[in-house]
Amino acid sequence: MSDSEDDGVPRLSSHTLAALQEFYAEQEQHAGPGVGDKGSAGAIEENWQLSQFWYSQETALRLAREAIAAAGEGGRVACVSAPSVYRELRELCGARVSACVFEYDRRFAVYGPDFVFYDYARPLDLPGRVVPHSFDIVVADPPYLSEECLQKTSETIKYLTRGKILLCTGAVMAEAAARLLGVRLCRFVPRHARSLANEFRCYVNYESGLDHED
Ligand SMILES: C[S@@+](CC[C@H](N)C(=O)[O-])C[C@H]1O[C@@H](n2cnc3c(N)ncnc32)[C@H](O)[C@@H]1O
Repeated sequence: MSDSEDDGVPRLSSHTLAALQEFYAEQEQHAGPGVGDKGSAGAIEENWQLSQFWYSQETALRLAREAIAAAGEGGRVACVSAPSVYRELRELCGARVSACVFEYDRRFAVYGPDFVFYDYARPLDLPGRVVPHSFDIVVADPPYLSEECLQKTSETIKYLTRGKILLCTGAVMAEAAARLLGVRLCRFVPRHARSLANEFRCYVNYESGLDHED
């Protein structure tokens, strides 16, 4: 492995070292954030194969606070493909509200019984313990910016919610979101830990604090 070891200490040539540094830089770029750059989903790193783009800490906190306010004391929140909101809810409220995380990525099974395995492609294929219309609010961020994905995710959202919906998705999905879920654009603009090519927005179907501030 050494390019030179005149004094007995193995060393790489500057050329080999530069190539190695370039390799590591590329690895970091493709693998998502490392331990020191966790985004808002804690120690669980983004996996871009699963379309994972975590919110900034500030946005995850803002959405969690909004969900708590909308659910009310003792309310129930479903986080559908939105694990960083679930994480903030856990941190914020203990027993004041209860929350579940509906996720395809089984790494989130670390959350125990709050984790529900969920594949948007099979929208109503949920465990029996998930009672229809048992969540005061559903916060959802579908994995793909396509009508097919939003339409299937909407089936799950409508199955779970008692009424309130907070959807985060691309600005390009505004018309489909209004048609499928009756939601409208909010003033609040969600931010991500990394800058994304697509513009993201929040949509609600109720009188929301997200309408009153940026
Ligand atoms: C655009 S990200 C939204 C994450 C959100 N910004 C956050 O910080 O919590 C999409 C989410 O969909 C999940 N996902 C990927 N494939 C899925 C599938 N087949 N069914 C349901 N969810 C899926 C990802 O694991 C990811 O959490």
